[in-house]
Amino acid sequence: MKENANPAGIIGKDALAELIRRYRPYTKQGKVADYIPELAYTNPHALGIAVAGADGSLVHEGDATTRFTLQSISKIITLMVALNDYGPERVFSKVGMEPSVDPFNSIVKLETLDQKKPLNPMINAGAIVIASLLSAGGNPDEGLQRICDTISRIIGRNDIRVDQKVYQSERKTGDRNRALAYFMKSTGVIDADVDVEETLDLYFKACSLEVDCVDLAKIGLFFAMWGKCVQKQDDGTCLTEGIVSPRIAQIVTTIMITSGMYNHSGEFFLKVGLPAKSGVSGGIVAFAPNRYGFGIFGPAIDAAGNSVAGVRMLEDLSRTFGLHLV
Ligand code: DON
Repeated sequence: MKENANPAGIIGKDALAELIRRYRPYTKQGKVADYIPELAYTNPHALGIAVAGADGSLVHEGDATTRFTLQSISKIITLMVALNDYGPERVFSKVGMEPSVDPFNSIVKLETLDQKKPLNPMINAGAIVIASLLSAGGNPDEGLQRICDTISRIIGRNDIRVDQKVYQSERKTGDRNRALAYFMKSTGVIDADVDVEETLDLYFKACSLEVDCVDLAKIGLFFAMWGKCVQKQDDGTCLTEGIVSPRIAQIVTTIMITSGMYNHSGEFFLKVGLPAKSGVSGGIVAFAPNRYGFGIFGPAIDAAGNSVAGVRMLEDLSRTFGLHLV
């Protein structure tokens, strides 16, 4: 397979324009998420893509600079911050590392599995446990600040902010997440001294951070380079240096492969063959290790919560440019 790598050369603007043209019709096959009422106002036919290359290149097309909320893509950042703070042993004593065949907001396995911890950190229950670690000591604001600082350093802009309307909408309607959190406190997965409402607040705010496709492509490239420096500043320093060790980048990457696209992770990896993480607002971050970071926005999503047109664009890119990892 690999001798056919990169058969079509480098990914340029023309290739991206053609992808948008070819796959925009597929936005009709998905639906904008409306269980968070504020998300229902999104244009269902929006579609954008950005690609950041290891050589420092950046190309984008379509609605690539439209802002949207991170939603579940925040889960890779919060996992990374928790792994940095607590180390893999403590983190994985609270949350598993196995894929889930249930929807992202399912509660069922929390009671039926012998180990009560959530299956992985990419489903809501798992990410809420991670948020409980980051809000420990009664300091959720500091936890959010660290998440924002990490993202800011990776994307190179420090005006990252919470979309207040989406945050309030999530907070008002987030009773499934509330149920997951209180259930996990009752079984001891969330520590007894943790304030569940503070934990949820941190989780909702992290999901409501605003980004665009260019930001996501930079996050993808950051993982593609295992957290190593991609671009030095004029003074020779590097904003992304030291955020994460290659080992932790490798752990997050592996969890993205097995669980990043929820209960469609197996099918996605078979077809696209790249680590990726989606969110219900229609974002996808994906990357080709040592080569490219991809950021996608296509808010019409499928039943699993993944952008319909976005997944197809990645499948096309992977095939055309020989990116499949296997
Ligand atoms: O908690 C929720 O349901 C949302 N804030 C995030 C879910 C999500 O993005 C799942 N994605 N596909």
